[in-house]
Amino acid sequence: MATIAEPEQSFSVLPEMPADVFTAPLKRPDHVGEDWLEPKQTEYSAQEDAIWDDLFARQMDVLPGRAASAFIEGLEKLDLGKGGVPDFAQMSEELDRLTGWSVVPVPMLIPDHVFFWHLANRRFPAGNFIRTRETFDYIQEPDVFHDVFGHVPMLTDPTFADYMQEYGKAGWKAMRYNRLKALGALYWYTVEFGLILENDEVRAYGAGILSGPTEARFAVEATSPNRIMLNVDRVMRTDYVISDLQPTYFVIESFEDLYRQTVERDFDRLYRSLPPSFTYANSAVIDVDHVVNRGTQEYLLRGGRGSNADPV
Ligand SMILES: [Fe+2]
Repeated sequence: MATIAEPEQSFSVLPEMPADVFTAPLKRPDHVGEDWLEPKQTEYSAQEDAIWDDLFARQMDVLPGRAASAFIEGLEKLDLGKGGVPDFAQMSEELDRLTGWSVVPVPMLIPDHVFFWHLANRRFPAGNFIRTRETFDYIQEPDVFHDVFGHVPMLTDPTFADYMQEYGKAGWKAMRYNRLKALGALYWYTVEFGLILENDEVRAYGAGILSGPTEARFAVEATSPNRIMLNVDRVMRTDYVISDLQPTYFVIESFEDLYRQTVERDFDRLYRSLPPSFTYANSAVIDVDHVVNRGTQEYLLRGGRGSNADPV
């Protein structure tokens, strides 16, 4: 059966990228190799550790009752609140014991194909640097707080951990079909901004939601956004917003359901039928949708970020 990934592809070494694949040109710093890994994790100053602690405390005011239980359990299993930026080696040892994953430091956003390769090997690349007090509320590039606090707890869930690995393998197939944009939408609406049903209530498991206080409230409770049950085919045709709150969130029933929906799909067929650009606007509700809440889109209609609109 054709699936999400190339069955014959080996990821033991970084595979050669097909020559006709377009990827964003990123300048590799001189001190990192082809794998983009930092030789070691940064040593953080006391001020930087305090930034982690303050970000951690702020999120913990907001997340109980809003974050998925798998996330909260992951935070506890890895003891991420013990003070200061976590030590990657120590955290990886525990994570390896739980699900066979590790966390590796990278200097900045890394090229897609290298990112996919690390995921395919159950390595999660995390930004080495931490934001400053000046950029405490919003940063464009994911830092160690977003990457470790937001993403790593979910990697303690065995099914979600498998999904992430499959996603990495799937990236190589998407590149060959030149459909990275579509696969990127799946990442966005699950790994970054995913919601899950727990006892009929939505909870967040996406790192983009969990690493910021405003979106954590907005995604779970606000009346503006749509909340729609995840359908992989539909999500991969849907545009998304990078630098503002999402007009639509997609909801899964369980991580098993997410895993099954992706791994059992014939991605070759899907990529052949997907147009190169998105079909649906990020606020659209379409006929096939199973809608949990239809949003008012008030926040978006009032102008979103930069307009002083309340995230209601
Ligand atoms: Fe992220």
